[in-house]
Amino acid sequence: MIYFDNAATTMLKPPQVAQAVADALTHFGGVGRGVHGASLSAGMAVFEARDVLATLLGAANASRVSFTCNVTESLNTALFGLLKPGDHAITTAASHNSVLRPLYQLRKQGVELSICPIGPDGSLDYDQLEALFQPNTRVLAVTHASNLTGDLYDVERLAAMAHAHGALIVVDAAQTAGVVPLHAVDQQLDVLCFTGHKGLYGPQGTGGLIVAEGVDVAPLKVGGSGTHSYDEEHPAFMPERLEAGTINGHGIAGLAAGAQFILDTGVDVIRAHEDALAQRFEAGIAAIPGMRVLGGGTELGRTGIVAVNLADVDSGQVSDVLNMDYGIATRAGAHCAPLMHKALGTEHQGAVRFSFGWFNTADEVDQSVAALQHIAADLA
Ligand code: ALA
Repeated sequence: MIYFDNAATTMLKPPQVAQAVADALTHFGGVGRGVHGASLSAGMAVFEARDVLATLLGAANASRVSFTCNVTESLNTALFGLLKPGDHAITTAASHNSVLRPLYQLRKQGVELSICPIGPDGSLDYDQLEALFQPNTRVLAVTHASNLTGDLYDVERLAAMAHAHGALIVVDAAQTAGVVPLHAVDQQLDVLCFTGHKGLYGPQGTGGLIVAEGVDVAPLKVGGSGTHSYDEEHPAFMPERLEAGTINGHGIAGLAAGAQFILDTGVDVIRAHEDALAQRFEAGIAAIPGMRVLGGGTELGRTGIVAVNLADVDSGQVSDVLNMDYGIATRAGAHCAPLMHKALGTEHQGAVRFSFGWFNTADEVDQSVAALQHIAADLA
């Protein structure tokens, strides 16, 4: 199989990730739940994982890294933990349902919501977005990169804008953590939400959020914390404030190994490789009649995603043929990004998303270009 669905999950991981999970499964006790060696070694591994992620994602203080089971839980935690009835929130049409649906639910609970449109080329008009701020705007929730087109948005500029209006910024880095250089402190991000199983090469069921010093996010879940057990309230200090119940130490051990692999390899090196593959692919398909590449309208470029459509052929059909006849895995359909598809005019057709990762090769790209040439000749 040629695996070009890395934006959904990275399937090929550095071997040390599986090794770390296997070691953890055979040696870990409960994280923070005992003073025996098995529990202490699990606690130490999670402590080190916070450190690796803080280094990779630019958090000055590793205790501001709380672990969750995925970016959806991170975003729910951030949005429900910051917004209350009477507050106003802003997002953009580039947001994934993991941002949109919590905000729609909060709207039912009395939070005002504004959604900034995205242009048909994936572009964001920053002045149009700024005009949406109100005196009661509490949160600007944005994606760092569209999971459909890979288009990157300027989170540093958006953070400055939010702060100028007295609001906080929550960034969905599902598509960029480990793939695009990020520095939460320098970029002044109040909450950075990440998932473990995509660009960080960790296992599914891992993720987290980094909360800036001085920002308080109320917990989404409370319960066992391993400390302060006679208090009625869940501990108020980070990172335990946003972690309840035994955390996924086995998965987090794998996530730490993935993050360490990225630190050792270099985010810039990974980004350059994925960018080169995306550009090679785009150049290869440029001459195919009826081929449309979605997005590309932001000045920062894209992650290693190229979403395409072939004339008016249904994206599911193209993706199926790629899979069945050529062994090429892509993702078609709506990608949980309904407003982005509406903005691009692909609400009904969907799109065939090719997403490249560190373990993909130029030869695989060339094979997929050839496959699309054949499919175009047959279907379009
Ligand atoms: N949100 C993930 C994707 O874009 C699952 O495929």
